[in-house]
Amino acid sequence: MLRRLYHEQPESFAFTPANQEWAEAQISKYPEGRQASAIIPLLWRAQEQEGWLSRPAIEHVADMLGMDYIRALEVATFYFMFQLQPVGKAAHFQICGTLSCMICGAEDLVAVCKDKIAPKPFQLSEDGRFSWEEVECLGACANAPMAQIGKDYYEDLTAERFSEIIDELAAGRVPVPGPQNGRYAAEPESGLTTLKDFESGRAKHNASVQRAVDLGDTVKRIDGTEVPLVAPWRAKGANHAPAPSSVTLNEEPVAVTAKAAPAEASAAVGTRPAALDAPRGGKADDLRKIKGIGRKLEKLCHELGVYHFDQIAGWTADEVAWVDENLAGFKGRVSRDGWVEQAKILAAGGETEFSRRMDEDDA
Ligand code: FES
Repeated sequence: MLRRLYHEQPESFAFTPANQEWAEAQISKYPEGRQASAIIPLLWRAQEQEGWLSRPAIEHVADMLGMDYIRALEVATFYFMFQLQPVGKAAHFQICGTLSCMICGAEDLVAVCKDKIAPKPFQLSEDGRFSWEEVECLGACANAPMAQIGKDYYEDLTAERFSEIIDELAAGRVPVPGPQNGRYAAEPESGLTTLKDFESGRAKHNASVQRAVDLGDTVKRIDGTEVPLVAPWRAKGANHAPAPSSVTLNEEPVAVTAKAAPAEASAAVGTRPAALDAPRGGKADDLRKIKGIGRKLEKLCHELGVYHFDQIAGWTADEVAWVDENLAGFKGRVSRDGWVEQAKILAAGGETEFSRRMDEDDA
């Protein structure tokens, strides 16, 4: 396939400040004179930010790395993962058309794309929100046919289910990734034949799906604020944000008040909110009804003595800053995902779009 730069190009490109900081940290991984080694992550980040790679973006990255433009163009045009023309603003669908998927119905999925999105691959839908392409094997052959939508895999698809997924995305909802036919992972369709004990104690989703649900960025453009910048290899003082490992929390549930924060927690930012020794009435609220809180974050909340929606709903800006700083590995999640606003609705007995979907999933 001939891969060329798109005929219409934007005037300029700039990383968001957080992505710029992330890009500079990547470059610092390499010894002097070897900065060009960072080209793929930087081009990828530019694409994650904009959805596709424009000429100004490629040149901007080349400038950052001290490379000739032609060298950066060679990389961008060689790898098919780089989109050289605008893709759908809401989502780009990559339909696997390799052997397993093809014999299990990939052509039906392509037919849905042609019908609902656009007749040709890489053509934008009429409203500019969607686009599609056929790709080579994505390594999920046991769950064929499948498609990658944004960053995640949707597996065990039928034309009907795939069509519904497109409708859900068009309505602004992001369906849960993973197998779409009730399978948990890649076990036989007739169910497990060995290790059957696993079935009773397993989590709601397989690990890949749970991670996707926790991150919640399946079709989100990445602005750099999603995951805290971790650059432990940089000289002390060169990091703009400390590594999460600099803060650890007690393994045991925390039984403290605002006056008695654990010694390990960061005291530099904000005020620690009051904590409970245990959930009231012995039963914690399901904090995972707050979008952005998965199993791991719920456990961290419990370790901080936070068990109820009304506790989160009452946090002041100062307290949000403290929790944001002390969620090891998840810094900034409280403000990024609007926990307080969601908790206020849930504490008042209401429901959010996300909690409603969770309830429907559980039903
Ligand atoms: S053949 Fe489709 S994922 Fe491998």
